Amino acid sequence: MNPLLEINDLDVFYGNIHAIKGISLHINEGEIVSLIGANGAGKTTTLHTISGLLKPKNGEIIFEGDDITKVKAHKIVKLGISHVPEGRRIFQGLTVSDNVKLGAYTINDSRESMKEDRTEFYDNFPRMRERKNQIAGTLSGGEQQMLAMGRALMARPKLLILDEPSMGLSPLFVEEIFKVIKKLKEKGTTILLVEQNAKMALSIADRGYVLETGKITVEGLGQELLNNPEVKKAYLGA
Ligand SMILES: Nc1ncnc2c1ncn2[C@@H]1O[C@H](COP(=O)(O)OP(=O)(O)OP(=O)(O)O)[C@@H](O)[C@H]1O
Ligand SMILES: [Mg+2]
Repeated sequence: MNPLLEINDLDVFYGNIHAIKGISLHINEGEIVSLIGANGAGKTTTLHTISGLLKPKNGEIIFEGDDITKVKAHKIVKLGISHVPEGRRIFQGLTVSDNVKLGAYTINDSRESMKEDRTEFYDNFPRMRERKNQIAGTLSGGEQQMLAMGRALMARPKLLILDEPSMGLSPLFVEEIFKVIKKLKEKGTTILLVEQNAKMALSIADRGYVLETGKITVEGLGQELLNNPEVKKAYLGA
């Protein structure tokens, strides 16, 4: 079976800065793949390049067998790649309910299925049901992350990209976010996860990659990376 997403020999620059230096990786359908690395390693850059917000200088991105390297960002969303960015962008001034409705509009769909999607959202995130009429900007950080993830899911993505979903959250909320990620995987969603919390990210992952200053230095099963002495030393505080 071909991978859902495949990246080959990707080079990404910001002006003269060579941020991504020839990386290759793949994600099979149904997998959670974690990308870990220190601040500035190039994780967000990689994700932005997959979603079409940045264009690589060299290399290719293949999604469901098609070359999407030159496809524009809004078309990539329609192809089935949803990205929850770092810092969880939601409409701060709108209610939870309106944010959810807008999430459903990112794809062409019938009214009926949009309603089903909304019901599914509140089933996935029961905490949001109680807060339907609350202004999104007044939600706690963890609640905003849930709303952002929920909105991305309304597009029924084939691939969900999460950039640091646990950032700034209390341990309790981090666990909740990871529970949601697990649940999404059980439902068959394919997920590319970027996390500073390497231990949790690798525990939940089928496979993982370590990114160091723009290069992939280690790759393997989540469990293998958790037991890899170098990964332990550099990223797991052991
Ligand atoms: N818009 C930009 N212009 C110039 N350089 C940039 C830009 N965005 C990122 N960079 C640089 O590219 C490198 C990779 O940044 P990136 O944001 O991808 O790292 P990251 O792995 O996501 O880090 P973090 O864990 O801190 O979020 C960094 O050196 C960063 O300073
Ligand atoms: Mg980042």
